[in-house]
Amino acid sequence: MQKSINRTLICFSLCIPLVFASLLLAGTLDYKSHFLSFLPQLNNAAPCRARAQSPPLRVYMYDLPPRFNVGLMDPNFPDNVTVTPSNLPMWRWNDGLRKQHSVEYWMMASLLYEENDESGYTREAVRVRDPGLAEVFFVPFFSSLSFNIHVRNMAELNTVDEQLQLEMVNMLRASDHWKRSGGRDHVIPLHHPNAFRQYRDLVNASIFIVADFGRIMKISRLSKDIVAPYPHMIESYISEDHEDPFEARKTLLFFRGRTKRKDEGKIRAQLHKMLAATEDVIYEEGSASEEGFKASAEQMRSSKFCLHPAGDTPSSCRLFDAIVSHCIPVIVSDRLELPFESEIDYKEFAIFFSVNEALQPGYMIDGLRGISKEKWTKMWLQLRNISHHFEFQYPPKKDDSVNMIWRQVKNKVPAVKLALHRSRRLKIPDWWR
Ligand SMILES: *[C@@H]1O[C@H](CO)[C@@H](O)[C@H](O)[C@H]1NC(C)=O
Ligand SMILES: *[C@@H]1O[C@H](CO)[C@@H](O)[C@H](O)[C@H]1NC(C)=O
Ligand SMILES: *[C@@H]1O[C@H](CO)[C@@H](O)[C@H](O)[C@H]1NC(C)=O
Repeated sequence: MQKSINRTLICFSLCIPLVFASLLLAGTLDYKSHFLSFLPQLNNAAPCRARAQSPPLRVYMYDLPPRFNVGLMDPNFPDNVTVTPSNLPMWRWNDGLRKQHSVEYWMMASLLYEENDESGYTREAVRVRDPGLAEVFFVPFFSSLSFNIHVRNMAELNTVDEQLQLEMVNMLRASDHWKRSGGRDHVIPLHHPNAFRQYRDLVNASIFIVADFGRIMKISRLSKDIVAPYPHMIESYISEDHEDPFEARKTLLFFRGRTKRKDEGKIRAQLHKMLAATEDVIYEEGSASEEGFKASAEQMRSSKFCLHPAGDTPSSCRLFDAIVSHCIPVIVSDRLELPFESEIDYKEFAIFFSVNEALQPGYMIDGLRGISKEKWTKMWLQLRNISHHFEFQYPPKKDDSVNMIWRQVKNKVPAVKLALHRSRRLKIPDWWR
């Protein structure tokens, strides 16, 4: 926070004299044309921004036995070997549904990758070997993958997943870095709603990387934690080059998914009833399978709007599939939290309806039909402009998902320091959470 205020001040102090200079010049010349031609430069503030790029976050990554991370991807990975860029298993595109919660993998991979890009771009986070230099500590436990692989039945007791969680908690609590901070400066990915489920309460001071807060309300907060996107399941529509995308996309509104869900997700069945008979709307039942994603890809690419109603949890992969398909998201999920919202204004490329609004007959469809081609195209352009923030890849690229996530972590550091310094001098239990 402090840094960004300083940055703004520096920008202003550089730019204001320029404004006055241009005004002075303009006084004797043609006032209007000078002033106006200067404005765009002020808006972009390009020289200021480039100069103010802050140094990368310094991250210490725990050296965990591979059974906590890449061993879950490749059972043949020896547990006594250190993971390096040269033996890191690649995430295969067709690895199925597990990919939705693979943020943990991309974060670990981004820290392993140590080369610098020739373009001179600075990574948002770099790995440091000396814990004394670290601003945060990353725990590369693939808790989502562990759940997906080791738990078949939620009632099962003492699963391998649970054993790994317990081992992880014990290891952390025995570590000096953890003891120093109570875990406040530790970053733990918990992307799947059931990730780390038996023991996550015990690490509740740490910075969680989550998909949403649906099932972890009690231990998670927007001020402490980070909402990360789901890696998309549908291939990005990079080749889209229609002259007139508005006309080329024939379907008005598209949804495909399970229509029978719990909690807020009950809305899906109601919407199904309301929209089923609407011309140029596709609302169909479908399961999350490889074939399902293929079918959705075609339809998302030929629809103007893609519906994102709440499911069992407020978030789903569908939103990110819509974004990379350049299909304007229509979000009906009152309690949805969105990734990177301190940097991205979703209103510029997505439409929001409350659950109540969406259930009034005709309200949503009339609203969507009322959006002019001009406005839609503006949103579509904006969508194309931000879709690179939702790409996970190795090696990481400037401003892609993983760099955006690290930048969000970087923004939490001042609050972590505040909590840490306070906790060290308190003589009584802390009365703030
Ligand atoms: C790892 O363990 C295997 C089998 O126990 C052993 O053969 C191998 O030498 C070990 N490797 C290292 C690097 O310690
Ligand atoms: C948070 O963690 C602390 C320390 O492990 C524990 O005592 C507390 O009960 C946890 N809080 C919640 C809400 O689970
Ligand atoms: C998208 O980005 C391009 C190039 O960076 C820029 O010229 C354009 O104005 C942006 N469009 C929108 C809608 O922001």
